[in-house]
Amino acid sequence: MASDIKQLSAHWRTNYRAVQEMSARKWNPEKERIFVAFNANIDTVHKLSEKNLENVIEKSGAKKRISSEKNPPKKIASKEDFLANLVYTIKTSSAREIACQDNETAKWADKCFPPKEERTGGQTGIMANYLAGLGIDVIAYTPLLSEKQASFFDAQVKYPLVKNSKFATVAIKRASNSEHTKINRIFEFKKGFKLGSTTSCRANRFILASRPKGTEPYFSKELEAHIPKMFQGVNRVILSGYQSEKACNLAHFRKEKMQIKKIKKSNPKLMIHLEEAFISDKGLEKDIVEYIAKNVDSIGMNEVEVRQIASCVLQKRVLEKYPKNSLEGLYILGAAIAKKLGLQRAHIHYLGFYLAIVNKKYPIQPEKVRDALLYASLAAEARAQKGTLPTRKDIFAQKLNNISEKGIQEIMALQKSLHLCEGFLTTGICEMDDHYLIAVPTIISKHPKTTVGMGDVISSSAFAGELL
Ligand code: GLC
Repeated sequence: MASDIKQLSAHWRTNYRAVQEMSARKWNPEKERIFVAFNANIDTVHKLSEKNLENVIEKSGAKKRISSEKNPPKKIASKEDFLANLVYTIKTSSAREIACQDNETAKWADKCFPPKEERTGGQTGIMANYLAGLGIDVIAYTPLLSEKQASFFDAQVKYPLVKNSKFATVAIKRASNSEHTKINRIFEFKKGFKLGSTTSCRANRFILASRPKGTEPYFSKELEAHIPKMFQGVNRVILSGYQSEKACNLAHFRKEKMQIKKIKKSNPKLMIHLEEAFISDKGLEKDIVEYIAKNVDSIGMNEVEVRQIASCVLQKRVLEKYPKNSLEGLYILGAAIAKKLGLQRAHIHYLGFYLAIVNKKYPIQPEKVRDALLYASLAAEARAQKGTLPTRKDIFAQKLNNISEKGIQEIMALQKSLHLCEGFLTTGICEMDDHYLIAVPTIISKHPKTTVGMGDVISSSAFAGELL
């Protein structure tokens, strides 16, 4: 077994090296144009220390409630709500994002845990900057664009607008349209972070989100009229930010669905991807599934988001059948989700492995999809080590000495349990009934410098990497 793992690890290193060679090629901006929308904000990053957090909890006078909350509130209206959510996130070591309804609590959190830096945040903001940095032609749309927000974008990113009744794109840095900036506060903790009797089993973060008006994930009426022009020459679209909607706001959801259909109609060849997010309100997740996810081609999820969607579209017994976060469990759930929603492609990222499920009609060969997953892992690892957005150079130079053993073991276990072809162990590809199952072990850091935005780098690399 151990030698199998060693051999397989060497094999995957070769696969990774081949992708690195390929990653050195320059993107062709004439051919590769990606449109990203809708959520961009500024993230303030707060690194947690054990002692400081303990002190703050002690002083809060509500230590008992904060430390024992099993189901922390899904909205934050007080310091205690915030601390209960933060502690729960550390205990479960899983990513969480909750909206803050009380400005005083947000200000108090800043005082207790002063921010270390400000960065581009929001899935759209992060993906736009990352993809543009790779040399891809990127158009990014976010409805609320203050001067400060605009200044955080890469100079190459373009912004769509209507000028004298005509559609145009301009440098996003010169396109500000509002005085309001959306700020999210990110509280990051390391692997091994100790709090009382618990220790976090991986590095992760809690996001105290803001929900200012004017950030709704759709195009203005003016831009909507220019959708055919706006999506001319675009090969891929990545949509995100629906977590800021309210459940049952059907007027918005109908409009969003109609706009997605218009985009698809204007250019049937382009692929539309939805990047999922942490959503605590099941009603909202149901609306996103019904109006958005069912109308796109592709979806990107982490392990938490898989269960979020699965709990809306699958029966409970399917959800409970497999151990949480095993490759087999995530594959079964991912394939069932893709089928239920009529998606051509779904990818899932988890610590140690990534997988993709692509319909046989998907226009990209499974080998390309696999290579794009490897590309995503190289980029994610470069991000984890540097803490900033990776460049083409970083991806090319990424060291390959930490291929996840756990990932390889999961691939071996899946091959055995589903009686997949032997070749799956080294190619990561297996032909199933109406789809290909693709799984790769990832490269992992023991101590990532940052975790926020990791999913965005992974998903946009995996989706855009198919064009390399
Ligand atoms: C969500 C958060 C944002 C963060 C991003 C990272 O969009 O709202 O603050 O930057 O996730 O993926």
